[in-house]
Amino acid sequence: MSVNLEAFLYLVASICFIMSLHGLSSAKTSKMGNLYGMVGMALAVGTALMGNGLSSYSFIAGGIIIGGVIGTFIARTIKMTALPQLVAAFHSLVGLSAVFVAYAAYQAPEAYSIGAAGSIYRSSLFEMTLGTIIGAITFTGSIVAFGKLQGLIKGKPLTFAGQHFVNAALGGAIFLMGTIFVLSESHLIFWVIVALSFVLGLMLILPIGGADMPVVVSMLNSYSGWAAAGIGFTLHNNLLIITGALVGSSGAILSYIMCKGMNRSFFSVILGGFGNDDSAGPEGMKAIEDRPVKSGSAEDAAFIVSQAQNVIIVPGYGMAVAQAQHALKEMTDQLKKAGINVKYAIHPVAGRMPGHMNVLLAEANVPYEDVFELEDINSDFSNCDVAFVIGANDVTNPAAKTDPTSPIFGMPILEVEKAKTVLFIKRSMAAGYAGVENELFFRPNTMMLFGDAKKVTEDLSKALHDV
Ligand code: TAP
Repeated sequence: MSVNLEAFLYLVASICFIMSLHGLSSAKTSKMGNLYGMVGMALAVGTALMGNGLSSYSFIAGGIIIGGVIGTFIARTIKMTALPQLVAAFHSLVGLSAVFVAYAAYQAPEAYSIGAAGSIYRSSLFEMTLGTIIGAITFTGSIVAFGKLQGLIKGKPLTFAGQHFVNAALGGAIFLMGTIFVLSESHLIFWVIVALSFVLGLMLILPIGGADMPVVVSMLNSYSGWAAAGIGFTLHNNLLIITGALVGSSGAILSYIMCKGMNRSFFSVILGGFGNDDSAGPEGMKAIEDRPVKSGSAEDAAFIVSQAQNVIIVPGYGMAVAQAQHALKEMTDQLKKAGINVKYAIHPVAGRMPGHMNVLLAEANVPYEDVFELEDINSDFSNCDVAFVIGANDVTNPAAKTDPTSPIFGMPILEVEKAKTVLFIKRSMAAGYAGVENELFFRPNTMMLFGDAKKVTEDLSKALHDV
């Protein structure tokens, strides 16, 4: 293949990736976005395989078959709620690949046209070092993120006095070793850099609490992109540079959006300490209060909802756990048939990943025009009869507005408490992800509907028939 044709195809693939990112920015265009991504990737891989200098396809074919089988199996079996840890696990592999590619280039510089062993170009050594450092940090950091999200490592931040000093010292040592490596090409120093970067990856992520892990995963996603871009320079591969930069910047933007949704600064996330209650995490902590709460049955809820004119549904992480979106859609259809106005309110950090609720609702064919973002719907709660909160907790918690000592203070919330009646579907009085109690459960206009979100919604639908 001519160099010009290769460059042209890489350019087309890059444009496909940009179109893909653009498409993925809205639920309506996300299918098209995925399609662009797939076309771009097929073009990129195909062009790389047909490129000059490939002498054997057997290893590549083996990799594609083994990787393809594992990938297909994982994609078909993974639960939606486990996606954040899957993404973390995949990022660790991107980081490790960056280290391997850098090592391969270091061992066989002629194959990469970056000089000869013992006299590799300084600029290439620099790029290689950078890719190795970011890749190694991403590798161990992502493993810790995976462990925390999977519940294998406690969500509690592991902090100790002087930890920032130790991290700064590690960073300084890596910088020094990197400089020595660029000047000496020493084999030993290369592995010292890898080892120090592995340790720094652990040290950076272990102090971060479980509640901030999704932000960390997105940040590591960004790192893995920059590592790939760094390696792209080593390999003189423009597509890898562009793709790495796209992943790097989109990951950074996503981290920023998540921090904004939680009203936290990026640095407060990175420096750790949030969600540091031991019991905070997917199952939440058990409420210790014995204050009375009003709880009701599906029949009670069906009666209340059937009397309403305007209902706003607030989905959260529990809806995802229970996979209650289809049952919810059926219930909504019933309500609409009865002439009740129904809207969905989406908080930017509801669930465990950006767009989590939108994806689930789209899967259940909820019309896009019924789904509203926080800033577009918050003023409607005061005119609504029922706020139907299904598996959401933190995103409705008024402590975010009223309690400066609360870890979620400052986070914008969906103001469900302004509705005439608030129905909360959840299994217990347990706290949400941030581990803080929700005052709303005890309010006189709240009715708790205890049980699995899918089961309660189905029961409610049945009960609606009889009202
Ligand atoms: P949470 O505050 O985590 O509350 C979810 C609630 O769902 C829990 O209190 C739980 O109570 C209930 N639940 C769990 N399984 C259930 C089931 N099968 N049936 C019924 N209820 C069930 O969720 P949220 O309101 O969506 O808030 C999201 C949290 O994640 C926020 O703190 C946010 O900052 C954090 N976070 C999100 C993101 C993104 S990007 N989405 C990123 C970082 C952090 P029970 O155990 O009593 O059932």
